[in-house]
Amino acid sequence: MDLYEVMRSTFAAREFTDDPIADELIYKILENARFAPSGGNRQGWKVVVVRRPEIRKNIKNLIEPVFRRYLAQVRAQESPWNSINATKLTDQEIRETEIPQGFLDRLVTAPLLLFVFVDLSVVASMDMDLDRVGVISGASIYPFAWNILLSARNEGLGGTITTFGAVYEQELFKQLNVPDHFAFAAMLPIGKPIRQLTKLARYKVEEFTTSETFDGPALTSDK
Ligand SMILES: Cc1cc2nc3c(=O)[nH]c(=O)nc-3n(C[C@H](O)[C@H](O)[C@H](O)COP(=O)(O)O)c2cc1C
Repeated sequence: MDLYEVMRSTFAAREFTDDPIADELIYKILENARFAPSGGNRQGWKVVVVRRPEIRKNIKNLIEPVFRRYLAQVRAQESPWNSINATKLTDQEIRETEIPQGFLDRLVTAPLLLFVFVDLSVVASMDMDLDRVGVISGASIYPFAWNILLSARNEGLGGTITTFGAVYEQELFKQLNVPDHFAFAAMLPIGKPIRQLTKLARYKVEEFTTSETFDGPALTSDK
């Protein structure tokens, strides 16, 4: 596939056919994804391939309250889990939020789940002393996670970066025997998408790019 076509059509796939995915194919996907960059080329990634039904079920139970809060905030026109504006919702309002039946079942019953972790003992978290949530550490793992999805797309598969699992990371670690100095980065359900979405909704370049200063003129293609 043409690179630009892959970049413009790799969508968040959350519904999959039952076609199984062999370890050989996952190996091939990871064999290409591993060329992702990371700070200092430390490659602190670790991937766990999960198929076992009892783990899937436990994961679903762990992420359900997270998804509930996510949806409650979206419905209240908030940006879920943002670190700047606290939610105005009460715990009770969140608890009473209905979630679409089947959404999480479809996610956790994907042909396989790839869990991506990063070894924090090798990541240069250069913003760790700033008085805001850390961003830099993620840059040493999400290019890798995204490479997995690009590579999957090239093989006719799809998936989604999901981060619901971060909220109850300690319980997740117990499920998968993850050492404490790792961080959960993503759970990627992977499979053959039941449909292919090709037109992705994204902002235009001029809506997020300016010249010279943050409040400078929008960058356009007109000369
Ligand atoms: C850092 C990150 C975290 C995400 N977390 C979740 C998640 O927890 N659950 C989920 O269903 N999708 C998650 N997504 C998928 C986004 O919702 C999706 O990429 C976005 O809506 C664009 O979808 P599209 O490519 O199909 O247009 C996440 C994506 C990113 C990049």
